[in-house]
Amino acid sequence: MLTLAMAAGGCSATGTGVPTASETTRTSLPAASAKPRCRPAARCTTRRLADAAGVTFGTAVSAAHLDEGRYRRTIIETFNSVTPENAMKWASIHPEPNEWNFDPFDRIVRFAGAHHMQIKGHALLFDQVDGDSTPDWVLAIDDPDELRAAIADHFTTLMRRYRGKVDRWDVVNEPLERLGTGQYDSHFRAVLGDDYISQVFEIAHEADPSARLFLNEAAAELLPAKAAALVALVERLRRAGTPVHGVGLQAHLVGGTVDAAALGNLIGRLERLGVSVAITELDVPTGPGPEAAATQADTYARVLRACFRTQCREVTTWGFTDRYTWIDTFLRPGLAPLPFDADYRPKPALEAIRRELAAAASG
Ligand code: XIL
Repeated sequence: MLTLAMAAGGCSATGTGVPTASETTRTSLPAASAKPRCRPAARCTTRRLADAAGVTFGTAVSAAHLDEGRYRRTIIETFNSVTPENAMKWASIHPEPNEWNFDPFDRIVRFAGAHHMQIKGHALLFDQVDGDSTPDWVLAIDDPDELRAAIADHFTTLMRRYRGKVDRWDVVNEPLERLGTGQYDSHFRAVLGDDYISQVFEIAHEADPSARLFLNEAAAELLPAKAAALVALVERLRRAGTPVHGVGLQAHLVGGTVDAAALGNLIGRLERLGVSVAITELDVPTGPGPEAAATQADTYARVLRACFRTQCREVTTWGFTDRYTWIDTFLRPGLAPLPFDADYRPKPALEAIRRELAAAASG
């Protein structure tokens, strides 16, 4: 197995490998000629492989762990992008009408800035109430104008504060029923009407016309009927002229496997609607033991391959160490869904990811 020292080791780079400030906020990928090369791949950090491939390889992070040396070091060596796991959810960052709790996300922004990483904003609006992310004071607003004003204030404050630092935003998270195909019956939909998604994307676009705006959805990569519903929703939004620029597929692969052909097909269908597609919350709960680890590695590889075969150029994992994973509470403990174990040792999944990044870099 690859050792951490190896994964973290130096590499003979022919470019500087350090993005400039403007590169960290760019909205398009670096030109092929600007890719920092790194050879041989075995001696490059995972992050350098991602940079060399011109792809975004990210992870969800929690400010609470950023003081931990191994946590920080592993992120720095492995990823070129971060997403706040919870720090930017409405209930965390704006718990009362006049109370803002910027500090946890500010710490993530400082960390990412110091290490020239991209930052994704997640999530301006989280539809599902059991995501526990919308504060009660927002759920209590039942006048449409008042709710629109609250959303505009929330979006504008965040998008202006983090302009030039956050380069893309999840504007609406999980608008579809978790296991079904209909639109989720959220508070926002109940108060603003069925076209509330268009309304909130317009609000976000007005708050920062240069921002890349994403709709993020769960389980479409697992449920064919939900995939069709997502494509239909995005098609409706695009037809209506809604400023939605990207779709995130979360990819919490709860069964431990994925139908890679179906995933590639879904990405292609979405891309043909004119949006860019990213894998935004990848984790692969399989359990302990070498067999599970091998299945898991194969699944990670399939997802990266399906993404890179299309125009998709972002894969973000939902955390990176089995020490801290939401799967422990969402499903059950011990499913070890991430590429590093609880002691930050790289697992076969990391080797598989590195192979795919190296292939993308040389392809
Ligand atoms: C999860 C976090 O990982 C947990 O720590 C929190 O308790 C609940 O939310 N889809 C999403 C993420 O878009 O925001 C969720 O994150 C996981 C599912």
